Amino acid sequence: MEILRHVVVLIHLVGFAILFGAWVVEAVNGRRHVTRLMNWGLAIAAVAGLILAAPWGIDYSLNYTKLGVKLVILLAIGALLGIGSARQRKNGSVPGGIFWSIGVLTLVNAAIAVIWR
Ligand code: HEM
Repeated sequence: MEILRHVVVLIHLVGFAILFGAWVVEAVNGRRHVTRLMNWGLAIAAVAGLILAAPWGIDYSLNYTKLGVKLVILLAIGALLGIGSARQRKNGSVPGGIFWSIGVLTLVNAAIAVIWR
């Protein structure tokens, strides 16, 4: 059970890596685009995160306030990806505020995961 939980944590981290990595590629290349990889990364992190939010394979209790905050931030990132891709279809790129918020909020969620115990 414990090993299985660690595998799900690994999948959760892969989702984070895909979302954040795809965003960094666009930022470094000076393109304000949202890409399909970002949606995939978010979906993988979301599914694995929700599975991890259930208390199995651990002998300590989960911090549900922290998980609630992470869920709200994840939903906000999802909304920004949706609005961003609609704007991109219309104008060819995503407004700067939306593009930067996606990366910053992703990093904030990772920071909350690691720092808030
Ligand atoms: C973009 C969204 C998210 C990012 C970037 C993210 C990032 C991370 C990272 C980096 C870790 C590893 C931290 C560590 O082990 O110390 C982690 C762990 C975890 N995340 Fe997320 N997360 C996200 C969304 C979510 C959501 C929505 C939930 C559930 C509501 C969630 C639940 C968890 C849980 C329960 C762990 C701890 C796993 C364990 O040690 O058993 N995450 N997350």
